[in-house]
Amino acid sequence: MDKIEIQDLDLFYGNFQALRKINLRMKAHEVTALIGPSGCGKSTLLKSINRMNDLIENCHIEGKILVDGKNIDDEDVNLLRKKVGMVFQKANLFPMSIYDNVAYGPKTHGIKDKKRLDEIVECSLKQAAIWEEVKNDLKKSALALSGGQQQRLCIARALAIEPDVLLMDEPTSALDPISTAKVEELILQLKENYTIVIVTHNMQQALRIADQTAFFLQGKVIEFDRTQKIFNDPKEKKTRDYITGRFG
Ligand SMILES: Nc1ncnc2c1ncn2[C@@H]1O[C@H](COP(=O)(O)OP(=O)(O)OP(=O)(O)O)[C@@H](O)[C@H]1O
Ligand SMILES: [Mg+2]
Repeated sequence: MDKIEIQDLDLFYGNFQALRKINLRMKAHEVTALIGPSGCGKSTLLKSINRMNDLIENCHIEGKILVDGKNIDDEDVNLLRKKVGMVFQKANLFPMSIYDNVAYGPKTHGIKDKKRLDEIVECSLKQAAIWEEVKNDLKKSALALSGGQQQRLCIARALAIEPDVLLMDEPTSALDPISTAKVEELILQLKENYTIVIVTHNMQQALRIADQTAFFLQGKVIEFDRTQKIFNDPKEKKTRDYITGRFG
């Protein structure tokens, strides 16, 4: 069974159809990249996977998304979001300490024991490859960190609730090459334990980290295949034109 199955998904914002008959499958412990020009529906699809679009008035969805074989619409949304964590394009930390940012999620899920929370915070920061940089400053404001550190802290915060799936929307678009390399290395480590779906505008990044890649254009998946195939021998001319930089 695939970890995530998207079946004939149509999504409308009012009268505007943002996604058209999307069919994608994602295996556990693989990284899937969503690529395509601005406005083609990548973030919309990513947000659908943990029902973030529920919050948008007049957003209407047809078709279905299964996670672990279960229709996500039948699941409690809080449990779904515990299982399917998300990291956004811009670091969106709370104006609190580094520690409290990471402990926040586990606390809302009912973990109160201080020792247990300490363990979760340390483990999440280690997994997000930022522990060494912040271990002596856990009480410091998260907002005092650099952009690259903040983004890794966002990843730690997402990991702290122990999801199975990690959705990442352009997690490195605001980062310098060194921080980007750190986050990419991290993603390759994380896939041992998580199923990752990442939106990126960086073709080289998709090539470096993704097992499979879906190319979107105007709400449709034009081509979906193993990453090497998409980049080295795409079936569609539109895919070739996009990845060689002819448009977008
Ligand atoms: N809340 C909303 N209400 C109405 N239309 C929306 C909403 N969110 C997105 N859209 C529209 O849906 C389409 C897809 O948007 P989406 O954000 O998914 O694109 P994207 O591929 O992530 O683009 P980018 O690369 O610029 O982030 C766009 O035409 C956008 O204007
Ligand atoms: Mg987007």
